[in-house]
Amino acid sequence: MTGRLEGRRCLVTGAAGGLGRTFCSALAAEGARVAGLDLADLGGTGDAVAAAGGRLTAVRADVTDPEQVQDAVDSAAAGLGGLDTVVNNAGVYPLVPFEATDFAQWRRIMAVNLDGLFLVTRAALPHLRRAPFGRIVNVASAVVWLGPPGMVAYTASKSGMVGFTRALASELGPEGITVNAMTPGMIATETAVATGVTRDLDRVVGGQAVPRAERPEDLVSTLLFLVDEGSSFVTGSAVNVDGGFAKH
Ligand SMILES: NC(=O)c1ccc[n+]([C@@H]2O[C@H](COP(=O)([O-])OP(=O)(O)OC[C@H]3O[C@@H](n4cnc5c(N)ncnc54)[C@H](O)[C@@H]3O)[C@@H](O)[C@H]2O)c1
Repeated sequence: MTGRLEGRRCLVTGAAGGLGRTFCSALAAEGARVAGLDLADLGGTGDAVAAAGGRLTAVRADVTDPEQVQDAVDSAAAGLGGLDTVVNNAGVYPLVPFEATDFAQWRRIMAVNLDGLFLVTRAALPHLRRAPFGRIVNVASAVVWLGPPGMVAYTASKSGMVGFTRALASELGPEGITVNAMTPGMIATETAVATGVTRDLDRVVGGQAVPRAERPEDLVSTLLFLVDEGSSFVTGSAVNVDGGFAKH
């Protein structure tokens, strides 16, 4: 049986764990060739992709460093034989009240969540242009609809990501490259638990239309829809996948 992404070549950033690892496995399970980019070791993701029947092309880079990003994206494209899909998933989300946020923390959040988005997308574009069509999916957050406390810098960065998505969609539409965002709700990944954002999980689940905790797998069908060749008329959107908490 051939998967629906047979022949596709996908790069996922922030792929060492959490949502990024699930995305790599899901894309590979559909037959795509997958590269994962991260600062951290990608061995666990390599194993997960192998279990899904694929082979991960692993590239290490800091998404805030222009030269590292250029090299990593080019070597991912070389490893995959080109590139048609980019999932911008690398991100940081410290929980810190606004007045306790120092300038260095603000800059770091903007650097990873926005500079990284800019650098990876810009480095990938020449490769996407050589593909029959292109798909860019940006992993924002349902915080853009909600504006929760303790996440002013993060919400500003993810809202910037949604604006980036809309404006870039306008530029790339004529070239057959779509640009969309997904806005996940609260998912108890290791990082989310460690940063303390899930301390509110019961309240969030109680406010969702679907009253159970969200899992990384809940994003997969939306990701596969957005990267599908048939979704060429869906662009500039931010698809909310939060169990109906924000009801956006
Ligand atoms: N978990 C949630 O509740 C949730 C909800 C909404 C949105 N998100 C977003 O989803 C994405 C993934 O979150 P997650 O919960 O899986 O967290 P995670 O920490 O498991 O994943 C983020 C990955 O990004 C990598 N990364 C961080 N800084 C980097 C840098 N400078 N260069 C390269 N890689 C870097 C990390 O090493 C990590 O592997 C993030 O963008 C996050 O903002 C998460």
